[in-house]
Amino acid sequence: MTPIRGPVAWVAVVAALGLGSSGAGAAQTGPDPTPSPPPAVTTTSSPPPAVTTTSSTTPPVGAAAAEIDAGRSLFEVACTTCHGAEARGTDRGPSLVGVGAASADFYLSTGRMPLDRPRSQAERKRPAYSPSEIALLTAYVASLGPGPPIPDVDPGGGDLTLGYTLYADNCASCHSSAGAGGALGHAVYAPPLNRATPREVAEAIRIGPGAMPLFGDDTFDDHEVDSIVRYVVYLRDPRDEGGLDLGHLGPLSEGLVAWAVGLLGVLLAARWIGTRD
Ligand code: HEC
Ligand code: HEC
Repeated sequence: MTPIRGPVAWVAVVAALGLGSSGAGAAQTGPDPTPSPPPAVTTTSSPPPAVTTTSSTTPPVGAAAAEIDAGRSLFEVACTTCHGAEARGTDRGPSLVGVGAASADFYLSTGRMPLDRPRSQAERKRPAYSPSEIALLTAYVASLGPGPPIPDVDPGGGDLTLGYTLYADNCASCHSSAGAGGALGHAVYAPPLNRATPREVAEAIRIGPGAMPLFGDDTFDDHEVDSIVRYVVYLRDPRDEGGLDLGHLGPLSEGLVAWAVGLLGVLLAARWIGTRD
């Protein structure tokens, strides 16, 4: 081994590695880090179940009268100021007759209700009620008239590739292809989709909260809803497509890591050359 070739070659290799990986990092920095469509090899998805008659069109009439009464009591304390007696609506809040269990559960479990200030877009915040109180209020609202029930969501039964297609066609225009949300004008925005639970995503699809359109049974069957929900959950942690897992810190930090590793290599090489004689 000649005295000079070793370190020079090594520095070159380190530099190439450093440049190579930061180059790869830079290639990922687009203005919109669109997640790539999921691989088409998701063959595990089961076909839509043949009989799914239980979840749709069943108004929760099963709720015991005692639950409904308890829900009404909670409602009278916090909701009638805006929604009126028997939830028939006032100029501060709409009638809740026929909005269904899906709407009440969605608005309460995402903390949108009770609203702090009338007239502002209802925002997601910490729920004001415990899950059991939400169930009571939901039973009361559902008892006012038939409406969409809480969807029976099963993301695992959804088809990721189908979910990607449906999401791209029906949701990405407002929520962005990465699910980051975006402004819609007139001080209305579509929120990011990284916090809603699978059940809340399915509820949003079925009820269309605020400025969002609703997608009923005639638009998406339950399997299609499961598929969209599966894709929305997938968006939060897309499968790594090769490369080192650096904790999903993003291209900038990945580039920094490559740069630091490369620089350390160069420093070590320089030191080695410097102390050689
Ligand atoms: C300060 C007034 C206010 C209070 C208090 C309030 N709401 Fe609302 N609520 C509104 C307004 C305004 C809307 C419509 C806004 C929207 O859809 O984003 C609404 C929408 C809703 C909806 C959705 C209706 C639909 O069309 O699907 C539900 C369900 C609801 N409220 C339940 C409740 C419950 C339950 C409470 C009590 C815990 C409550 N609200 C307290 C003002 C209020
Ligand atoms: C026209 C624009 C628009 C489209 C299309 C749209 N949304 Fe929305 N979405 C909204 C807006 C606006 C809100 C906030 C509603 C409110 O509370 O005022 C929202 C809220 C949501 C939420 C609640 C998020 C949270 O954390 O509380 C979910 C989940 C959601 N949308 C999912 C979807 C899915 C899935 C699709 C496609 C099937 C879709 N949206 C299509 C505008 C849209």
